[in-house]
Parts: sequence; structure tokens; C-alpha cells
Amino acid sequence: MSRVTALVVLLTTFGSAAFAADLHRADQAPGDAAAVEKGKQLFAMCAGCHGADGEGKVGVAPRLNSPNYLAAAPNEFFSETLKTGRTGTNMAAFGASMPDEDVAAITSYIRSWQTEAGLDLDESPLTGSVADGEKIWIDICKTCHGAGGAGYSEAGSGTGIGRADFLNVSSDGFLRAIMKEGKDGTKMRSFSTDSPIAVADLTDEEIDSIIQYLRANAW
Ligand code: HEC
Ligand code: HEC
Repeated sequence: MSRVTALVVLLTTFGSAAFAADLHRADQAPGDAAAVEKGKQLFAMCAGCHGADGEGKVGVAPRLNSPNYLAAAPNEFFSETLKTGRTGTNMAAFGASMPDEDVAAITSYIRSWQTEAGLDLDESPLTGSVADGEKIWIDICKTCHGAGGAGYSEAGSGTGIGRADFLNVSSDGFLRAIMKEGKDGTKMRSFSTDSPIAVADLTDEEIDSIIQYLRANAW
């Protein structure tokens, strides 16, 4: 190998490693190929509700393969949901029946769908107020997520985001990101003033107020 070829090989290898590192945030570690393959097999038990490729089914189970949602969610969001489930919905708690290794493998498989670089989440303290959040919830969110945030079981098209099981695994930064960016491939559009595709012009403080309202009323 000439010195020039060696340099090119070195740069190419180094370059792709740097790219892979760029795609995932520290809390979005991708699994190795064996874990992804194992997770793919195990996902057969999820596909009936979440779709073969995690595309979800409206009113049945949320989409798991949305690019901007995968860019926002940490691995823990998936693994903890898998373990604890969503009480009162068809999402069972697999924690008792599934070894941690399988939970990790399925998480790796879901992570393998990520195509957009991990978003920097804003975990700074919430501004706004519960009272302001309640008004916006009633005006905008309740149509699709249900008055009490039960989602599908209240005949909404959106996820049951009022549930403690959802809020306990969702950081403020994750919730802010979804409200600002929307969830690609679903009816959840952006609600931020910063976005050209926004359906409403909510300020950062208004978005924070909704999170305050959801947390104050988690059930
Ligand atoms: C019988 C249908 C059903 C099966 C099977 C099922 N789920 Fe779910 N899943 C749901 C429902 C319903 C929800 C959301 C309920 C809610 O919060 O409104 C959900 C929520 C989730 C969420 C949270 C998504 C979000 O954005 O809030 C994840 C992650 C998830 N499921 C992963 C899995 C995995 C992995 C499997 C297979 C091991 C699985 N599910 C099997 C119905 C199912
Ligand atoms: C037009 C209907 C609609 C409106 C209005 C709406 N949503 Fe959504 N929302 C959805 C749908 C659909 C999903 C994704 C469900 C799925 O993946 O199948 C979603 C998902 C979400 C999620 C992510 C949950 C998950 O799946 O992990 C959050 C957070 C959320 N919405 C918050 C809000 C808030 C806050 C408002 C009010 C400002 C709002 N939504 C208004 C339809 C809506």
C-alpha cells in the first residue's frame, strides 16, 4: 500500500467513524450488529400494533420510526417504556417477562432506524404557568389528545400524553422538542413560532406552560 493510499484509507475510516458518532447523542448509543439483528427478530411481537417497520397505526399504537422523534428521544425513553408499559392502554409492561438483554436489543433495533443527527435537548427549568398551559391545552391539544390526555382511549388520534407512565419517561427537553418540531409522518405538526410548518404560533414560554400543565395533572 502506498503512503497516499494508506492515508486515504485512514481518513475514510476515521471519517465514517466520526459521522456515526455525530448521528447519535451520548444517550442514543446504537447497539452492535448482533443486538440489532436480535432486536429485529424480537420486534415481531410488536409489529402487530406498531407496524412491521415501526410506522405505527393511527388509534392503535404510536409511530416509532419518525426521523425527528428518533433524533429527540434518548434510548431510555424506549427501554423504560418497554419495561413499564402504559397503564390503561394496550401497551403492556414487558419488564417482568423480558430479560434486560432483550429490552436492550429491541431498543437497538428501534435506534437503527435513526437517520437524523441527535437533537440537543433544552433541559433548562420550565418557564410559564400551569394556568396558561391549561388554556392552550383546551384550545389546541385536547382535540387530538383527549381532554384528560388519554389519547386513543378518549377517541383522539394522538398518544395518551396525559398519563404518568408517558410523562415519567419523557424529559422536558424531549417534550419541548416534539412540540417545536412535531412528529414526522403523523398528524402531530410543529407548534413553534420558529418553524415554517407550524400550525400555531406558540412561544417557548407557552410550550413550557403546556408541559407544566401536563406535569401538574399527570395521572
Ligand atoms: C397490543 C398492541 C401493542 C403491542 C403488541 C405493543 N405495543 Fe407498544 N404501544 C401500544 C400502545 C397503544 C401505545 C401507546 C399508548 C399511549 O400512550 O397512548 C404503545 C406505546 C409504545 C411506546 C411509546 C411510544 C411513544 O412515543 O409514546 C413504545 C416505545 C412502544 N410502545 C414499544 C413497543 C415494543 C418495542 C413492543 C414489542 C415488544 C410493543 N410496543 C408492543 C400498543 C402496543
Ligand atoms: C391534529 C391532531 C393533533 C393536535 C392538535 C396535537 N397533536 Fe400531539 N400528536 C398527534 C399525533 C397523531 C401524535 C403521534 C401519534 C402517533 O405516533 O401515532 C402526537 C404526538 C404528540 C407527542 C409525542 C407523543 C409520542 O408519541 O411520543 C407530544 C408530546 C404531543 N403530541 C403534544 C401535543 C401538544 C402539547 C399539543 C397541543 C399544543 C398537541 N400535541 C396537539 C396529534 C395531535
